[in-house]
Amino acid sequence: MTNNDLPRRRFGDTELQVTTLGYGAMSLDSRFGRTVSQPEADEVLNLALDAGINFVDTSPDYGPSEEMVGRALAYRRSQYILATKCGCPVDVEPDQQGHVFTPRNITAAVEQSLRRLRTDYIDIVQFHGSPSRTALEEHGAIEALRALQRAGKVRFIGISGTLPNLPEQIDLGVFDVFQIPYSALQREHEALITRARQAGAATVIRGGVARGAPSEEKGWDIRRLPEVPEEHPRTLWEAAALDDLLDGATRMEFMLRFTLSHPELDTTIVGTANPIHLRENLDAARKGPLPPDVLAEAKRRLDAVVG
Ligand SMILES: NC(=O)c1ccc[n+]([C@@H]2O[C@H](COP(=O)([O-])OP(=O)(O)OC[C@H]3O[C@@H](n4cnc5c(N)ncnc54)[C@H](OP(=O)(O)O)[C@@H]3O)[C@@H](O)[C@H]2O)c1
Repeated sequence: MTNNDLPRRRFGDTELQVTTLGYGAMSLDSRFGRTVSQPEADEVLNLALDAGINFVDTSPDYGPSEEMVGRALAYRRSQYILATKCGCPVDVEPDQQGHVFTPRNITAAVEQSLRRLRTDYIDIVQFHGSPSRTALEEHGAIEALRALQRAGKVRFIGISGTLPNLPEQIDLGVFDVFQIPYSALQREHEALITRARQAGAATVIRGGVARGAPSEEKGWDIRRLPEVPEEHPRTLWEAAALDDLLDGATRMEFMLRFTLSHPELDTTIVGTANPIHLRENLDAARKGPLPPDVLAEAKRRLDAVVG
């Protein structure tokens, strides 16, 4: 396989072309997986880029992740679109939701990310934690990011958005990028992804393999799921009898290709610290969306369970 055989899509209304499989660097934080050493991070991150992945997402909130990404990849900075977050507390006490959207904290977070990521610009800075319009407007958070954009430190501004705040975030009309959770087992934002993309923003999908929970090796371990859906994913999977639709694929291949089937997805940032899993995900991404009849049948079955 050459390193340019991964499908790409236009990244929102920007001039960028993004690979449909991106890399989620939260997996480098031991709270969301195992402890990862810098040499292991070097291997998995460089493997991702060598295979053609051109999008990396991280956050100041993911322990050593930003520093590891900076150490591993800064030497090939022009080869990837780099996304991080802001609102994460830097030298201030977090609010009840764990974030602070004051201009001072936003600027401090971006300056810290630039140092940690060993770069002089970040392609996308996203407000973390799906803040409401009121929280964003209270202290002038968007204007603070705009100022960093004018200074050339940030190229595009985005938000990590979920219900209930996502519709009003889209309606604000200021974001270039929305990061939204979605998979076969978590479909509540399916129509909002379409709405965000049709409003001209890029869509970055997270949770696209439901944290690996359906995989045979993980055995439905959802203890580390950051967002546990109302319906236990195993209950949903089994009630919809999705194993019947695999046609020789692993559950992880099916999951990832289901996510990639969303027509308004630009990239999905799957996290992994395991090079074997990364290779499996690359193979699935090269196959692209599920066949339309399989996708339709999976959705029909899932809809019948969820109602
Ligand atoms: N609020 C926010 O903005 C927010 C919240 C959560 C996540 N994120 C971003 O989105 C990214 C992805 O989110 P996520 O980590 O929650 O969800 P995810 O990508 O669905 O799941 C990642 C997990 O799946 C496992 N996995 C990946 N490929 C696998 C495979 N082929 N077989 C078995 N297991 C596999 C990984 O474990 P192994 O390491 O064992 O492969 C990892 O623990 C994060 O890295 C982060 O960048 C943002």
